[in-house]
Amino acid sequence: MAATLHTHEPPAAPFAAAEIETARLRLRMFTPADLDALAELTSDPEVMRYIGHGRTLTRDETHANLSNIITAFRRRGYGRWALVWKETGALVGYCGLSGGSEEIGVELAYMLARREWGRGLALEAGRAVLRYGFEVLGLGEVAGLTLRGNLRSRRVLERLGMSYVRDTHFHGFECSHYRVAREDWRDTPAPFHTVG
Ligand SMILES: CC(C)(COP(=O)(O)OP(=O)(O)OC[C@H]1O[C@@H](n2cnc3c(N)ncnc32)[C@H](O)[C@@H]1OP(=O)(O)O)[C@@H](O)C(=O)NCCC(=O)NCCS
Repeated sequence: MAATLHTHEPPAAPFAAAEIETARLRLRMFTPADLDALAELTSDPEVMRYIGHGRTLTRDETHANLSNIITAFRRRGYGRWALVWKETGALVGYCGLSGGSEEIGVELAYMLARREWGRGLALEAGRAVLRYGFEVLGLGEVAGLTLRGNLRSRRVLERLGMSYVRDTHFHGFECSHYRVAREDWRDTPAPFHTVG
């Protein structure tokens, strides 16, 4: 649920702009050229239903979000990766790590185009990002925060091995908090390859 503002920044990692490859996806840094494709996602009411205030974003709002995503990635060397099909390069959505708050810490975030739901892509990307977080960035734990009613997202977090912590209020939103610690995280033999 990471479309809202962030107050707590985790320590910056050396800039690498790493790309990650999974069985079907490439996770690369967003560029300004992704605006059209991203605006298609953020203008879909079903995609935005459980993001922030649950309303679609204008093109200008998406442009501002995209600039924030790119700036944050450059500053930290990681952040929200653009998810693209390896075969076509078409944008599927995003998955990545963003700073939450003091009590939540680093948070896993993802958003897929409606047409890509039901293919296990959030699971595939989420696994790769968790692996990157634990093995490359050396994070001790990663949180998942979702609006209580977002059952699809809660299923993704549970399938990623996250445990339910509690229901909580986050930036005024009623959320469910999940987390996975590195020592509890179970990697899977899924293809994972970092570039750069
Ligand atoms: C949350 C969201 C990513 C979940 O998408 P999803 O498609 O349900 O999740 P996955 O990509 O992991 O796919 C899992 C589904 O794919 C199916 N599937 C198909 N092929 C699969 C494969 N090769 N591997 C695994 N699962 C597969 C699974 O059976 C499962 O279906 P089910 O949910 O009907 O049981 C998506 O609804 C979304 O982007 N929503 C809008 C943004 C949002 O709410 N983000 C989260 C904010 S916290």
